Amino acid sequence: MMRALELFSGLGGWRLALGSRGVVAAAYDVNEAANATYALNHGEAPKAQELATVPAAELAMQRADTWLLSPPCQPFCRMGNHGGLDDRRSRAFRHLMDLFPDLAPERLVLENVGGFLGSDVHALLVERLRVHGLHRLDLEACPSRFGLPNQRPRVFVVASQKPLKARPLPDFPPRRIAEFLDDAEDESLYLPEATLARHRHGMDFIIADDRRSTCFIGGYGQRYVASGSFLRTTRGVRRFSTSEVARILGLPEDFRFPAHVPLEARYKLLGNGLSIPAAAWAVSHLDG
Ligand SMILES: C[S@@+](CC[C@H](N)C(=O)[O-])C[C@H]1O[C@@H](n2cnc3c(N)ncnc32)[C@H](O)[C@@H]1O
Repeated sequence: MMRALELFSGLGGWRLALGSRGVVAAAYDVNEAANATYALNHGEAPKAQELATVPAAELAMQRADTWLLSPPCQPFCRMGNHGGLDDRRSRAFRHLMDLFPDLAPERLVLENVGGFLGSDVHALLVERLRVHGLHRLDLEACPSRFGLPNQRPRVFVVASQKPLKARPLPDFPPRRIAEFLDDAEDESLYLPEATLARHRHGMDFIIADDRRSTCFIGGYGQRYVASGSFLRTTRGVRRFSTSEVARILGLPEDFRFPAHVPLEARYKLLGNGLSIPAAAWAVSHLDG
């Protein structure tokens, strides 16, 4: 039974991916909307602690043997500035790497975008794992291999004191988008003609019969181009609802947001989140 620290916890995707393999000793995130959503869905509030300055004693107190983490991806994103370790959003990860020698967990699973591999942040992690004698796998997975109609390729670094072996990726055919739609459509999700006219050339349109969608990013609530797919129906073109995006990410059907979290913040939390089956597959490398 693993005892995990869920670092940069967001909606609690790692907790869902961990499932019955372990317990979350403590989750950490500075975002109020993320923490309220986490608390509503998982019954325990994360610690609103800035990880760039968290004291080693605070983390040591949790007696965790596993780190599950998704540090901010902007330093490595296609649309980010590729700042890596120099990016201010890498400060928290650097700090965790500074604490690593004192706290070195028995296991670790990290998720990030493809640009993470080969970055100086990846190199720092690889060095820490090597010095502490942890075996390591760098894996790549996309939810489209897990039956989900979604392109969201991500990398996972899995590390353990025990030797690791890469598992074959599953190859379940993606289900139809129709299976992920709400029973009752929210009319307010339809885009005005003027918005469509302005952005249509850069947008990705799909229909309910399709078995794919592009990656929904945090800006999906506000941006139209390269932010996720839009659904064409007989009535027009609409955004996917937050519950539809949640389903496409593999979150449980009863996943919900606190009433006070605004729509844009909900899309942002989902866009920052994990695809649960892909993350669970990464965690499964720690079995046995
Ligand atoms: C990529 S998201 C993680 C998503 C998460 N794995 C999930 O399942 O939703 C990164 C999260 O880290 C949090 N975060 C970013 N910088 C932080 C810091 N310095 N200290 C604590 N939390 C931070 C953000 O608020 C955000 O929720």
